[in-house]
Amino acid sequence: MEKYVIKGGRRLEGEVTIAGAKNAALGILAAAVLTDEECIIENVPYVQDTKVLLAAIENIGARVKYIDKHTVSICAGTIRDGKHLEVDDGNIRKIRAGYYLLGSLLGKYHYANVALPGGCDIGARPIDQHTKGFESLGANWEIVKGGKIVVRADELFGNHVYMDIVSVGATINIMLAAVLAQGKTTIENAAKEPHIVDVANFLNSMGANIKGAGTDVIRIRGVERLHKTEYSIIPDQIEAGTFMMMAAATGGNVLIKNVIPKHLEAISAKLNEIGAHVIEYDDSVRVMSDGRLKSTHIKTLPYPGFPTDMQPQMAVTLALSRGTSIITESIFENRFKYVSELARMGARISVEGNTAIITGVEGYTGANLVAPDLRAGAALVIAALAADGFSSVEDIKYILRGYEDFDGKIKGLGGAIELIDDDDDRSMQKFRLKVG
Ligand code: EPZ
Repeated sequence: MEKYVIKGGRRLEGEVTIAGAKNAALGILAAAVLTDEECIIENVPYVQDTKVLLAAIENIGARVKYIDKHTVSICAGTIRDGKHLEVDDGNIRKIRAGYYLLGSLLGKYHYANVALPGGCDIGARPIDQHTKGFESLGANWEIVKGGKIVVRADELFGNHVYMDIVSVGATINIMLAAVLAQGKTTIENAAKEPHIVDVANFLNSMGANIKGAGTDVIRIRGVERLHKTEYSIIPDQIEAGTFMMMAAATGGNVLIKNVIPKHLEAISAKLNEIGAHVIEYDDSVRVMSDGRLKSTHIKTLPYPGFPTDMQPQMAVTLALSRGTSIITESIFENRFKYVSELARMGARISVEGNTAIITGVEGYTGANLVAPDLRAGAALVIAALAADGFSSVEDIKYILRGYEDFDGKIKGLGGAIELIDDDDDRSMQKFRLKVG
């Protein structure tokens, strides 16, 4: 098993380039199955989640080819017998986004049989809004033996879908199922995240007719078929935000390149509020901090609110800021699991229900940590970079699901981090000697 070893205390400085958005890529890769023609998709982040989804797409018979590390060609024309496909290759259960194949296979073949989704353990994560949407379009569904969900329809007809909860996954899944349905679909109370817009833009580039993505009412007019396309995925808002927090927490000065500053507004606003300095350029942001930060209150909300996927990284930064901060997590009920790890570094955080009360401390001390999920894992790496002394972060498989070359990028900013084999004591010694 691999882990990161980190020596903290260095200000991060320099430039880092952000990869394509993981959560947009996952919707887009699944959407490519909706046409029999070739889709060439650029700026695909080379992370575990996209690799697992691509393997699943290949396993059902599509031709999947990496043109280069970040450009993928998908041709679903080679899929045979779409009415009897089964998506279950062992790995797909470990990721959340396998469920996007429900929408795209249902949309194309009127039949989908997919292993129930896994993903980070951050809450109950039901899929009732997805199934409600499919039902509105005329499909029925059942959970079958082996933890799989089967959705089928004779025909799909556009309809009015009101979402009881703002859900990124359900919004994308209903779009995927509706683009080839007969007639008009309206999704009300839709999610507005940048990746929703990106998936809609991708589908439109294939010939779909989707309007209103990015607002809370999305209107889809079904088309008969979709065609080939070439498309480049937007930059990852959360990877960018993670490096922004890293700069702030280490008192650094980092230029974060290949971003859409508008997507980062909620994060930039909070960083400015606590005393870091964010400068926006056309496609980059610079974050500077002298390390003297102050407290604030934050509530996670659907976009354009403060993203739940940035909550742990923000908490790590606030726990080093003067005063008392309060974070309310309103999206997922189990997203404070990193708090006990941070406590071992000296953080003072108490959690009551969905609220974390953070009393800022002067600094962290290095500790051996375990990543509980993807974003919390990244947050612990930030804490270790800001801490005094050596730390290790285990269970980094979560981090590798969503961050490409995380340690390489941090090293490029002067951070002392190494990915080593868990049981290899010599690597640890070598790292200690190297960083002093
Ligand atoms: C997506 O998850 C992201 N995952 C998550 O990113 C992200 O945290 C989340 O959206 C919120 O932004 C992917 O895109 C693969 P939701 P998703 O449906 O779609 C409830 C990361 O770190 N809900 O918007 O699963 C749900 O329980 C990950 O990259 C229902 O009740 O999230 C939650 O409370 C982690 N019924 C809320 O809605 C449903 O049918 C929002 O969930 C669907 C969701």
